[in-house]
Amino acid sequence: MKIPFAKPLITEKERFFISKVIKSPILTHGENLSNFENDFRKKFNFKYAHGVSSCTAALHLSFMAINLKKGDEVIVPNQTHVSTVHTFQILGAKPVFIDSNNSDGNIDTNKIEKKITRKTKAIVAVHYLGKPADIIKIKNICNKKKLYLIEDCALSIGAKVNNKYVGGFGHFGCFSFYPAKHITTADGGMLVCQNKKLYEKIKLLKGFGVNKNFNERKIPGEYDVKLLGLNYRLDEIRSRLGITQLKKLDNFISLRKKNYLFLKNSLKEMKQFKFLNLESENNIKSSYFCASIILSNKLKKNRYKIIKNLKDIGIGTSIHYPKIVSDYTYYKNKYKISTKNFPNAAILSYRSINLPVGPHLTRKDLLYIISKIREIFKKFT
Ligand SMILES: Cc1ncc(COP(=O)(O)O)c(C=O)c1O
Repeated sequence: MKIPFAKPLITEKERFFISKVIKSPILTHGENLSNFENDFRKKFNFKYAHGVSSCTAALHLSFMAINLKKGDEVIVPNQTHVSTVHTFQILGAKPVFIDSNNSDGNIDTNKIEKKITRKTKAIVAVHYLGKPADIIKIKNICNKKKLYLIEDCALSIGAKVNNKYVGGFGHFGCFSFYPAKHITTADGGMLVCQNKKLYEKIKLLKGFGVNKNFNERKIPGEYDVKLLGLNYRLDEIRSRLGITQLKKLDNFISLRKKNYLFLKNSLKEMKQFKFLNLESENNIKSSYFCASIILSNKLKKNRYKIIKNLKDIGIGTSIHYPKIVSDYTYYKNKYKISTKNFPNAAILSYRSINLPVGPHLTRKDLLYIISKIREIFKKFT
């Protein structure tokens, strides 16, 4: 058996559509990008959307757009991908890390307000493993304290709170289409916002700061550079793939949910680990990125052995993320923050194993994963 943690599902028809784009002379600045942006914005009820080259690009652009600079502080969960933090650290802003809650691993919103200072400029809400953070509370704090709100939705496309899609609560919402995600464009991302001025600013920032994009120029070379910008565009080939992938998202999420619940219910008797609470509840709709099991304290030293055992028999797993951000060498050297301040986030980083729930899994795959987990964990009790 070979069961990867994630597998992009690209059909023959999608390959055909892509090949048509490759054969055309328009590889950038074309209608596939604008169609993808429009489909995305309409599907999720966002006002504005920019296709970009990755979620990292979307985050970086968001922080550039709000003029983050040295001396500013940004409140961010310590349990996240390093991209969430690198993208404002690179502008000189300082991370103010917050622990996770001990229920679903999202930022502990009770700890945010004490950390706000005169230097705080923004809060990043990361929706962890498909389960939305308490975005209503975070948004209220941002409104009260006049802070920018950036949502990192890399792992949570299609998730909802109060029937509203994540990404639409903040000043910016950032999405990833990396192959391991719910839908893919190979690499790629989307940056959404609800404000025309911010949308226009991103348009400049994602294309060298140039005031007229390629299609707006009457004659070649007719443009000026208004500000410092980079090239974070999404090309036509990837945009074309995004259009068809997006149509499949709802079905992918229902399959993920089914697989998640099947795994969880089948393994609920296991004493050696517990499942992180990533499912939908009340007004919160999860998009089920994975199932995350948290090993008992006794078993944590065996985590990599268990992962290796699973790998050897063809079961792919993942860890989100291998360290809390403040423990990575770069941040450890820079800020010297103790792991002890983040007990819940540390449990996720150092005791969890994430299991696949993607739409690539068959019933046979799931039964195999369940029986092998039971078998392997027997060895470690
Ligand atoms: C929470 C989070 N933010 C940002 C990223 C970066 O996404 P990308 O690879 O599209 O830049 C990831 C990648 O997995 C992520 O998990």
